[in-house]
Amino acid sequence: MTKSENITWHHSQVSKEQRQALNHHKSVVLWFTGLSGSGKSTIANAVEKALFDQQIGSYVLDGDNMRFGLNSNLGFSAEDREENIRRIGEVAKLFVDAGVITLTAFISPYRADRDKVRENLEADEFIEVFVDTPLEVCEQRDVKQLYAKARRGEIKGFTGIDAPYEAPLNPEITIDTSKQPLADSVKQVLTYLADHNYVS
Ligand code: PPS
Repeated sequence: MTKSENITWHHSQVSKEQRQALNHHKSVVLWFTGLSGSGKSTIANAVEKALFDQQIGSYVLDGDNMRFGLNSNLGFSAEDREENIRRIGEVAKLFVDAGVITLTAFISPYRADRDKVRENLEADEFIEVFVDTPLEVCEQRDVKQLYAKARRGEIKGFTGIDAPYEAPLNPEITIDTSKQPLADSVKQVLTYLADHNYVS
């Protein structure tokens, strides 16, 4: 739905398929979802590096980073998180149209918001990667000391403490970083991409 009137969609002279052929790989969104500190960004960035080393271009859209710019006017209410994910879904769709393998690392705690992103793409253009690291492990790591703050009541509405996280029901990939080293998680994602002919 758009608020604007008198606008027309302009079609490009170069198709998504032609851009993919130029890049020698398909374009897709690898949508990493999971609790704060679960390892989303770490795995996404390591996959980007591994793809780069194979001369495959990709790009990471990261939760914290996007909140400095595009989404700097959004907080962590349910409504703001929904808008955060909607905007990222739209940006990711543009990247896919540009022929890019796109990795997103957002908590994206609401199933309905993630499902809307999926529905806005072609069936094979959205790979949900559930970083299923248990809350106890994330809290123990507490790299940013945010869980400690949330427990002390200094942050309200922190995911997993006093705000919900709705786990995916049928993710394409599930990773528990408490059970395997980073290299295995990266391999798991790369193997999925190769097995499903996104890359060769
Ligand atoms: S969301 O829910 O998808 O809109 O969140 P996201 O854009 O991924 O941002 C999550 C990072 O913001 C920090 N942070 C919080 N997370 C959860 N709840 C609250 N209230 C909160 N406040 C700040 C936190 O560092 C998250 O980073 P990650 O990388 O997930 O650890």
